Amino acid sequence: MAANWKMNLSLDEARDLLIRIKKNEIDFNKVDVLVAPPFTTLQLANELLDGTDILVAGQNMHWEEKGALTGEISALMLKEAGCSHVILGHSERRKLFFETSEIINRKVDAAIVAGLIPIVCVGETLKEREEKKTFDIIKAQLNESLEFFCEKESLPTKLILAYEPVWAIGTGKTATPEAAQEVHLFLRRWLLENFDHDTGEAIRILYGGSVKQGNIKELMFQPDIDGALIGGASLEPDSFLSIIRFYES
Ligand code: PGA
Repeated sequence: MAANWKMNLSLDEARDLLIRIKKNEIDFNKVDVLVAPPFTTLQLANELLDGTDILVAGQNMHWEEKGALTGEISALMLKEAGCSHVILGHSERRKLFFETSEIINRKVDAAIVAGLIPIVCVGETLKEREEKKTFDIIKAQLNESLEFFCEKESLPTKLILAYEPVWAIGTGKTATPEAAQEVHLFLRRWLLENFDHDTGEAIRILYGGSVKQGNIKELMFQPDIDGALIGGASLEPDSFLSIIRFYES
């Protein structure tokens, strides 16, 4: 269960939320938990979560190691700030910051080289879905965002994919579990076609888009949905905790 805080929460709000999560009894044999706060909150998150099993991720990074790149952050800087993961290719980055799959491909490669685990997001817009282009779009995003790995026919099994239909993000409209599963199965088959069987089966595929307490269980019941990337509902302790503890209900 990965929390994408986006550009939300002050340091005080973040501290309160993390302390609440930390105090809760989470069965880490049943669930992995990750939070992706804004850059300026990473250090606080790492300090507060030290000694717990909760992981910390960056929400973005540049592919270069260092240089004259005002406003950017490198994979090594994220690692130094205590991150194990980084979200790459989120639709907000693609749409609002003009990130192409080619850029994402470079970032994924740089993250792996630096020892960070990328959470690579793909997803179609409402228009693309209505035009029945969902699978073509997803396939192109996968081929281009993971091009280096497709060429090598090898993908680190720790890498995580996230299917996030753009029309479901922050809109309250969740894909039905069956519709999400259909795309997750497509992603799984794409993995199995491009990489060896063990890799194809091992890669975790998260669903993202208006995940909340009321729909997490049904989503997690689907065979190819291995977890969730949660935006809005991860900002409030009770709702995030009830999602994390989906296994109890
Ligand atoms: P949401 O965001 O849960 O608020 O829809 C999900 C995401 O963008 O990762």
